[in-house]
Amino acid sequence: MNAPERPIDPHQRFPRDFVWGVATSSFQIEGAANADGKGPSIWDRFCRQPGVIADGSDGDVACDHYHRMPEDLDLIASLGVAAYRFSVSWPRVQPAGQGAWNLAGLDFYDRLVDGLLARGVKPYLTLNHCDLPDALQQCGGWAQRDTVFRFVDYALGMQARLGDRLAAITTHNEPWVISTLGHEWGAFAPGLKDRATAVQVAHHLLLSHGLALQALRGTGTRARLGIVLNLAPIHAATASAEDRAAACLEDGRLVRWYMDPLFHGRYPADVLDYLGTAGPRVEAGDMEAIATPMDFLGINYYSRSVASADGSWRAGGSGLALTDMGWEVYPSGLTELLLRLHRDWPVPPLYVKENGAAFRDELVDGRVHDAERVAYLAAHIAAVGDALAQGVPMAGYMVWSLLDNFEWASGYAKRFGIVHVDYATQRRTPKDSAHWYREFLQRQREAGRAMPCKAREPG
Ligand code: FCB
Repeated sequence: MNAPERPIDPHQRFPRDFVWGVATSSFQIEGAANADGKGPSIWDRFCRQPGVIADGSDGDVACDHYHRMPEDLDLIASLGVAAYRFSVSWPRVQPAGQGAWNLAGLDFYDRLVDGLLARGVKPYLTLNHCDLPDALQQCGGWAQRDTVFRFVDYALGMQARLGDRLAAITTHNEPWVISTLGHEWGAFAPGLKDRATAVQVAHHLLLSHGLALQALRGTGTRARLGIVLNLAPIHAATASAEDRAAACLEDGRLVRWYMDPLFHGRYPADVLDYLGTAGPRVEAGDMEAIATPMDFLGINYYSRSVASADGSWRAGGSGLALTDMGWEVYPSGLTELLLRLHRDWPVPPLYVKENGAAFRDELVDGRVHDAERVAYLAAHIAAVGDALAQGVPMAGYMVWSLLDNFEWASGYAKRFGIVHVDYATQRRTPKDSAHWYREFLQRQREAGRAMPCKAREPG
């Protein structure tokens, strides 16, 4: 295994009000798939299809967080983080995705938010992290324009119940993943393989984001509002004109397809040309709604992407270390990405809302010595520091993930947690990376007492 490309500076200092956190999502940790009136999500249904999840597993129990939430909140607090990013399972609070609310589900999130505040941790809520109510999918799901308005109602319902205590509300997590993996490649729920559908889904996700933002603002909420995108620098495999064109198109589909409408109110012309008849159906006023100003932009970063015209490029050929997902360890790509976002679009304060790595962890005598994860996190935090030093308005960083959890189509085999979960007993064991993160944050706090506030508007 190669060393990370940049030496780690454990003494690097961040602004005092920089928001440090950990992240999870509802479907990946909660379990309790049928408990207390919860309806099925598209992932509950997807997991039932033979062969789609690598280890044949599902989210029925996951980390059983629904029943162990107070213990997990204690774990979060023990890390010394300022923020916890979690998502609400829409079908848990509104089983059919419209109409009746499920009070037991709402109570769960109420206790979660109060439990965080009681422990001095700020709640960062995500409304949609992949688990759409299956009842809405049966009516067409995100491909159906009506789902946009169902989402706005859901957003307002959550604001009414929790909004007074939230630091931030994210509308959607990773619209590219929902659109492309879920509707074009068929690798994620709902498992469709149709490009035009995927493009329309992306449009509806963006539109529902903009309209939900407007509706939430109308309530006078104090929660900061934004979206979370999975972005990466796209490098061409070679300097050939063909590979560079492939990289440009890939950049258009992953990065500019989301950044241009959110910040300029238009889709990129080259991607529209490429899509041809598979382009989105856009109604009057949609683009203006999508470009509704945000309080923050969240970025999930795991690795760079490399494009080649014939699709031949595979991670591993570059000699860089790979994670257990087969993703290159490429921390400087995070700095490159953040600098580019700041240069090319009028971005609000930026948060890394997910960053982390799966490795083959072993629990031995009650310890997990995950030195590779420690190195990964330290190098990526340093990369954020580099962006900050070059003027990028960075406001926070969150580790993916608090717990080992259900890694979508990879099932439970891929472990991203800084806390190990023994799925047979549900026992939680903080890995070395959790201890490292806690000590890193402790040092930041100690240094911060002597430092001015410099982060931009933390939420
Ligand atoms: C992101 C997802 C998150 C997790 C990580 C590894 O794409 O948002 O739920 O699966 O990848």
